[in-house]
Amino acid sequence: MAYLALYRTWRPGTFNEVVGQEQTVTALKNAVRQGKTTHAYLFAGPRGTGKTSMAKILAKGVNCSDLREGEPCNACISCADINNGSFMDVVEIDAASNRGIDEIRDLREKIRIAPAQGKTKVYIIDEVHMLTTEAFNALLKTLEDPPRGVIFILATTESHKIPATIMSRCQIYSFRKLSRQEISKRLQEIAVQSDIELEEEANALIAHRADGGMRDALSILDQIHSYKGSPIRRQDVMDVLGIIDSLFVADLVDKLLNREIGAIITMMDQVLTQGKEIGILARESAYYLRDLLMLKLVGPDQVISGTTGNDRNRLQEQAKRLSQDQILQALKILMDVGEKIRFAESQRFLLEMAFMEVARVWSPRQPREEGISKSQAETPPDRKKPAPTRTGKDAQPTPEQNQWWGKVLARVKEIKIPTHALLSQGQFIGLKDRDLYIGYKKGYRFHKEKMEEKANKELVIQVIEEILGKKVEINFIFLDQDQYNDIIVQKAIELFGADMVEVRD
Ligand SMILES: Nc1ncnc2c1ncn2[C@@H]1O[C@H](COP(=O)(O)OP(=O)(O)O)[C@@H](O)[C@H]1O
Ligand SMILES: [Mg+2]
Ligand SMILES: [Zn+2]
Repeated sequence: MAYLALYRTWRPGTFNEVVGQEQTVTALKNAVRQGKTTHAYLFAGPRGTGKTSMAKILAKGVNCSDLREGEPCNACISCADINNGSFMDVVEIDAASNRGIDEIRDLREKIRIAPAQGKTKVYIIDEVHMLTTEAFNALLKTLEDPPRGVIFILATTESHKIPATIMSRCQIYSFRKLSRQEISKRLQEIAVQSDIELEEEANALIAHRADGGMRDALSILDQIHSYKGSPIRRQDVMDVLGIIDSLFVADLVDKLLNREIGAIITMMDQVLTQGKEIGILARESAYYLRDLLMLKLVGPDQVISGTTGNDRNRLQEQAKRLSQDQILQALKILMDVGEKIRFAESQRFLLEMAFMEVARVWSPRQPREEGISKSQAETPPDRKKPAPTRTGKDAQPTPEQNQWWGKVLARVKEIKIPTHALLSQGQFIGLKDRDLYIGYKKGYRFHKEKMEEKANKELVIQVIEEILGKKVEINFIFLDQDQYNDIIVQKAIELFGADMVEVRD
């Protein structure tokens, strides 16, 4: 026997089998029982929430010869034929496939012919928002003058695209996304009846990922089952969906909170050696941050990831250490990078930068100096007078040097934005003979090390040669606190003028 996908095998066959959508179920069941169905329905809601299933149940209901309390019997000839798709008086039209012009035209002619087989003709028009204007007009005419014994059921995921003229002629039912509990329960039932052993944690993760769609949940279960067989554990779900364990992400968040940059880099190595994609790490981290935010905003019940027990406590601990604003900022950083990453070559680098940025945003006391040095780094320094300062290695930038350094930065930015981002976090200390010095603050180890990589370093050397006409050696050094403070004071003087800057020891 041909393999039938789980979601088809488990299409609800009666109103009572439909999960959720209680009001719709009650209303339609009553209408069928009392023989008071109307001639046009619109089912609107997200995909995989039961619209087509409900349409078929309704079609059976109005044709069944052995109704039971408004439920189709699923045994009479009508029910059986509708279930296997051979019932002539139930016509399914998929507006998405050919935009429905021919069918609707056809339909206007055929509609006057009395039902061949059953009592009521049912036209189910799926994705009805895809109809052309022409087809909509034809449909409207039909709805304005509905023949007896015909029911239209229109289904759509995008009800805002349906003309008001059509809407006003239909009884409208909204389908909602299913809750994780609803999905989990159904998954469990189906797993048991299909002889699939589905671990609770695995189930929770599938339900989470299905995002309210029962069809997606069943498709995921199917996919994992055909790949892995039974039993299905949490890890299997993660493998098949390419999910990175939320425990791993939790660790990563701890490292970010503690600003353990080296450890973060190592963790990224791990992800890559496991053959997972950088984009997935970005996505999973964003998911996790979303959970953190939800926890902060609305409390533990709304946390959506597959986290349970210990993970939960950990999430709570982390949430305590961060403000809402900090989480939001981090989320924004990761979502931005998630967008960029898809088209970028240097994916890993971009994500590393994003994590560095998150670590910075999360640092308990973000030093005010960094703000100054950063904004200043964007614009080429243009100093009137060299400020009194003590810089490393006997080098000290002259005004001319600062001027061409500004050009270097601008040129690097033109060629390669990521390199510029790294370079501009460092301070140009000066050029002595052939040695050029760029200083990084201690917390900027990552930037320094990245700049020391050949590709970045060579690029800068090349640009300097282009601008200065001579080849230099570049030395990336760490600034000690004094040097750093001097530079900051100097920057502050440039920004605000010497009078405004008070130097405290
Ligand atoms: N509310 C629901 N209750 C039970 N199963 C559902 C429900 N919604 C969807 N499903 C499952 O998903 C499959 C596809 O559902 P369908 O009714 O075609 O969704 P829609 O038309 O809203 O996209 C069904 O065969 C069934 O297995
Ligand atoms: Mg459908
Ligand atoms: Zn029946």
